[in-house]
Amino acid sequence: MKQILIQLILLGLIAGSCAEQAGGRRVETLDSNWQFINEDIHGAERTGCNTDNWETVSVPHDWAIKGPFDEEIDKQSGIIKQNNEKIATEKTGRTGALPHVGIAWYRKVFAVPDYKSGEKVLLTFDGAMSQPQVFINGTKVGEWKNGYNYFYFDISQYLKKGENLLAVRLENLPYSSRWYPGAGLYRKVQLIVKDEVSFKHWGHFITTPQVSEKSAAVNIKSKVSGRDVYVKAIIKDAAGNVVASHQSEAGGGEIEQVLTVENPSIWDVDSPDLYFAELSLYKGDALKDQETIRFGIRKIEYNADKGGFLLNDKVTKFKGVCLHHDLGPLGAAINKAALKRQLTILKDMGCNAIRSSHNMPSLEQLELCDEMGFLFLAESFDEWKKPKMKNGYNLYFDEWAEKDVVNLVHATRNHPCIVMWSSGNEVPDQHGAAGVKRAKWLQDIFHREDPTRPVTVGMDQVEATMKSGFGAVMDIPGLNYRVHLYNDAYEKFPQGMLLGSETASTVSTRGFYRFPVEQIKDDYNASKAQKEAIYGDTYQCSSYDLEYCGWSNLPEDDFVLQEDKPWVIGEFVWTGFDYLGEPTPFDQFWPSRSSYFGICDLAGLPKDRYYLYRSRWNTKDETLHILPHWNWEGREGETTPVFVYTNYNSAELFVNGVSQGVQTKTKDKSKQHRYRLMWNDVKYQAGTIKVVAFDKDGNAIAEKEVHTAGAPHHFELSANRKVISADGKDLSYVTVSVVDKDGNLCPNANHQLSFEVTGAGLFKAVCNGDATSLEMFHQPSMKTFNGQLVVTVQSKDQAGEMKLLVKGEGLKGEILLQTK
Ligand code: GAL
Repeated sequence: MKQILIQLILLGLIAGSCAEQAGGRRVETLDSNWQFINEDIHGAERTGCNTDNWETVSVPHDWAIKGPFDEEIDKQSGIIKQNNEKIATEKTGRTGALPHVGIAWYRKVFAVPDYKSGEKVLLTFDGAMSQPQVFINGTKVGEWKNGYNYFYFDISQYLKKGENLLAVRLENLPYSSRWYPGAGLYRKVQLIVKDEVSFKHWGHFITTPQVSEKSAAVNIKSKVSGRDVYVKAIIKDAAGNVVASHQSEAGGGEIEQVLTVENPSIWDVDSPDLYFAELSLYKGDALKDQETIRFGIRKIEYNADKGGFLLNDKVTKFKGVCLHHDLGPLGAAINKAALKRQLTILKDMGCNAIRSSHNMPSLEQLELCDEMGFLFLAESFDEWKKPKMKNGYNLYFDEWAEKDVVNLVHATRNHPCIVMWSSGNEVPDQHGAAGVKRAKWLQDIFHREDPTRPVTVGMDQVEATMKSGFGAVMDIPGLNYRVHLYNDAYEKFPQGMLLGSETASTVSTRGFYRFPVEQIKDDYNASKAQKEAIYGDTYQCSSYDLEYCGWSNLPEDDFVLQEDKPWVIGEFVWTGFDYLGEPTPFDQFWPSRSSYFGICDLAGLPKDRYYLYRSRWNTKDETLHILPHWNWEGREGETTPVFVYTNYNSAELFVNGVSQGVQTKTKDKSKQHRYRLMWNDVKYQAGTIKVVAFDKDGNAIAEKEVHTAGAPHHFELSANRKVISADGKDLSYVTVSVVDKDGNLCPNANHQLSFEVTGAGLFKAVCNGDATSLEMFHQPSMKTFNGQLVVTVQSKDQAGEMKLLVKGEGLKGEILLQTK
């Protein structure tokens, strides 16, 4: 190579944002003008110029999200031992029924602007699904196996004069995942150009070993290439004020400095203040490299005697959710606006923690958690050496596990949000002596790479781990479900604390209610006919929030442990949002193809359960939520229980002005009675249900009403953000509700709608949260599900106004949004 390719830039062949930093470092995001083909081709074609049949795409890209859904895709037959299944079944939709299996290629012509002889060129991937093999100009430069991990290659020696061709081969095997893994270059790809004498990639490690209100010690270790070099460090606060600076001695290898910040703004979930370390590498007077690393000043401690987990000396419980990586209708393709919307919804619920189940999180998600004040449990694997899936990570564990852990830690360790690592989820290696060794081996690698954070494993085989010593090895024992074993585990394990690493797995569908209202614990060994006798043929779960899996439980089973056992340090609920794949309890029932576990549905709309968690977790704002909806034509006079999720202790319910009595939360009845207000004998009568809540002294303090809706009259459109960036990436989510003339939601409306976006934006996707819908997310047409759906619109890269027009079944609605 060794030459500049300005003509390619002029031809528009080189795209992406290129940020030049002092010291000559340049970072270019390779986001546009990729060529993509969803089949295997031969070496000659991948290095040649023939672009017939290649589609032009931008990255992040998920090749499978446009479907179509097909029950034959990755249909998984057999017995899932882990779920205690005894009978082999055929599971459709377990990985989302989207065409993610197969081989695909991505190619991109690129150049290195202003390349100077001797510079290093790194090609970095934040994840590539999966088994990426990377070629430059036809020569393989390297490969990775895990589709979720960050990796990079030094491609300097493969570059040639003139244009260069980057090609990436990806392959997703069937029977390799338990959920929708996504497909393709679904995260960022970047080119980093820097001097030979420079900071090593992911070379900085910033810790805050001493923190008080008065001052904080900031330890900065920087790995460098080159000898007799020194580092100047400047720490700036969020406003850009210099708060500390230091210059190291000249040296090589790793250079360590300790700076003091007086009166630091401490990072916390309520005040996520951040600092920036500007690190400059010099050789003599020459500035060789410069990087700015964002970090937070905060103190974490796990100490059973002091109450468990302490954030800045304050006992803090994890009020967390597990999240899979897909973004519903966008698939796995990462988008920061989509992630931010999820976190905004969760923050309002009072959630303070995220677990990236069961793999490495996106860097964008970590950045947002730093900025928005979420604690983070960063996970690595769903499998070690013993298989869950025939083609799962077990195939690579021996050779790759250490490399994967090292990359996870190196790429993410400066994020203040990360407070714990997880080396695995429900790994079958919990059984047997070899598993204990593996647990220790992995934990030691985490400790070696990061001595500041503890390690957990989400354990479901709790009895086995008590016997084998597996649980005793972990820094923090994490229990997945198994609420009946918490006491025992606490007694047997030496750590003095337990984490609910995965909890609840309650299942529900937004706006769907089953009568009679009763608890259903799913029987995984029931035949299809038996299941249909229980659930009917709607393949939906009731939003009375009383249905759960054979291995799991209801939210309150965890609430009592969290509240009554001081040694339980918190929980991570399965899951914050519905995700593609794993449609338990309907995984044998086509067309179910996405989960029912979410506190919010696949479109991001809160289910009733959201308010149950909010009533306990959000301690600042009022929660007063009534369920179900009140449109039960045909159920007149029939028992139709009314539940209220509220932070208030008691309330009175009225149906058309007639009191149904006062309910008060109590520990004396079921666990549900402790957290829900329930009127179980209400007879349905169209009209208005009203709840009046009382404060501690019995004074009426708040009220809410739900009305029987009349005929659908118009659409109500509301956007999560009315002004978005004109960067061609930003998103606004518009909720469309079918309402009657008074604005009441029509909860049974399933209107076929169409969407048109004009002006400064584009239609991106639509989702209605129905786990059985086979309508595709990228088509501008969909039915509302129980009265609602969510349209995602994307900005173009010019500022202006955009209009979303929604039409269907004789009705119309529109909303104007700005891009700036
Ligand atoms: C857990 C598992 C999760 C998910 C969940 C569903 O056992 O860790 O990945 O499968 O069950 O309840």
